[in-house]
Amino acid sequence: MQTVRTIGETREAIATAKAHGKRVGFVPTLGFLHDGHLSLVDEARRAGAELVVVSIFVNPKQFGPNEDFARYPRDESRDRELLERRGADLLFLPSVDDMYPAGSTTLISVGAISRPLEGERRPGHFEGVATVVMKLFNIVQPDLAVFGRKDAQQCAVIERMVRDLDVPVELIFGETTREHDGLAMSSRNSYLSVEDRKLAPALHRALRAGEEAIVHGVEDAVAVESLMLKMAAETPAITVDYLAVVDPETFEPPLDFNRDLLLAGAVRLGKTRLIDNIRIDRKSIPHTRR
Ligand code: PAF
Repeated sequence: MQTVRTIGETREAIATAKAHGKRVGFVPTLGFLHDGHLSLVDEARRAGAELVVVSIFVNPKQFGPNEDFARYPRDESRDRELLERRGADLLFLPSVDDMYPAGSTTLISVGAISRPLEGERRPGHFEGVATVVMKLFNIVQPDLAVFGRKDAQQCAVIERMVRDLDVPVELIFGETTREHDGLAMSSRNSYLSVEDRKLAPALHRALRAGEEAIVHGVEDAVAVESLMLKMAAETPAITVDYLAVVDPETFEPPLDFNRDLLLAGAVRLGKTRLIDNIRIDRKSIPHTRR
């Protein structure tokens, strides 16, 4: 695996691969990699990428002033080893100065879809994500790019941006990778104390309770949300940011409960903020009215 740090070197390595007719797959990350990230590398390969590029960049623009930018976990040599073993081809490690030289002011705002849920709790977050992803797309010029579904709203924001700005890239969304007890893998899980780690699956349990209710015929978002809140309340150490039933296209409350739905949640446990979601695919529920 080749490691590159500058935009120029990255462009050069990718131009060479493209000149040899290689299909370029891209997995952008914040680093401190886990099995979820590595499964996205596999996904890129499965989708036909012949050059798999991974970027690691802790993007300051997507962290709010009171968020965890400074303490976000970083371990370059461990990440490099994991990627090497997983068969990635090119690792791009840009610096903040290279990505945002003095005087750079452009921000991409994707609009309505970036406002509810995470957008409401983390003002400016999705502008930071959209801007860095667009920049990375312009540098890497991938044929396909893979993102994890754990960040469901991020996936939707990127999909919207790609559609609206005619970005020539195929988007692939990989399933959430979970620990044995259901906790969605996340670099931020490393913040959890031993005690909090035991409590953390409560978020997934609450979402599962919502899913069960819908599968068994509950047809009212408020009822499902209160059930999820009740479930979360069984773990008093947890503070709920939101546990919501939304339309997976708009991230707003569903106008039609009999279409596909997304159960999305964010909670705080000590100093750790966890997010997760479950998608309800109506086609897979036999009794659903359509
Ligand atoms: O999901 C992430 O890791 C980040 O938000 C991304 C897509 C790499 C942009 O910084």
